Amino acid sequence: MTAVAPVSRKPMNLHRLREMHAQGEKITMLTAYDATFARLVDEAGVDCILVGDSLGMIVQGHGSTVPVSLDEMVYHTRCVARGNQTAWIVSDLPFGSYQESREQALRSCVALMQAGAHMIKLEGGGWTTEVVHFLTERGIPVCGHLGLTPQSVHALGGYRIQGRDEAGATTLRKHAAELAQAGAAMTVLELMPSAVARQVQDENPGMMVIGIGAGGGTAGQVLVLHDMLNITRGKLPRFVRNFAAEGGSVEDAVRRYVAAVKDGSFPDETLHAY
Ligand code: KIV
Repeated sequence: MTAVAPVSRKPMNLHRLREMHAQGEKITMLTAYDATFARLVDEAGVDCILVGDSLGMIVQGHGSTVPVSLDEMVYHTRCVARGNQTAWIVSDLPFGSYQESREQALRSCVALMQAGAHMIKLEGGGWTTEVVHFLTERGIPVCGHLGLTPQSVHALGGYRIQGRDEAGATTLRKHAAELAQAGAAMTVLELMPSAVARQVQDENPGMMVIGIGAGGGTAGQVLVLHDMLNITRGKLPRFVRNFAAEGGSVEDAVRRYVAAVKDGSFPDETLHAY
């Protein structure tokens, strides 16, 4: 096994991420679920690592994120935190760990942050506003998640593009504004027309909007690592670019992703947006 050279970057923090956003520098995020990949994506220069509950599908082989438990998220967050040196770690609150009450949400956040998360992510709009306010007031950096919210896949009727009609887009914009007001520093927007995501970012300039299948008008981008390496089973969604296609190592692919997000060539609106 080859030793990996230590990273020379300073550890990322919320202040620095906000500065990057204010200066128009795109923010890069990729998923990692274990120490090896956390070290690799960190070494390759990713700003943020998402310990996503997509690990339910990618690592555990489930058909959705619904079966993932808080204990499992804590375990994977610990693994990632051990491998990472500088990236900002965002961990998902899994299904059932925050819907009951804001106190339940707080307890779940404490577990994830004590495992090494710097920020927690939760899905949904409207009812989550009060929870986000409660958490941010208590010093927990929060990332929202709107649009296609995979924990609600059964209610949404599948992995469908959200906000396509005017009513849907209006609701998304309203929920995003509420999250921003409640103190969410960041929000992931998943699978929606790029015009809607761009409008959300423009209307909430202080909130870092991170897009996935939401075009290039946001503060940053996130992808599932296994998707952009094209090692996920099945056909890649249109919004994913296969960064491993040009060859080289996994680290090369991640470096190409970082460079493409930073210079605005990914996502390409003609190929990867709706
Ligand atoms: O769990 C995850 O990987 C996510 C991304 C799809 C944004 O939430």
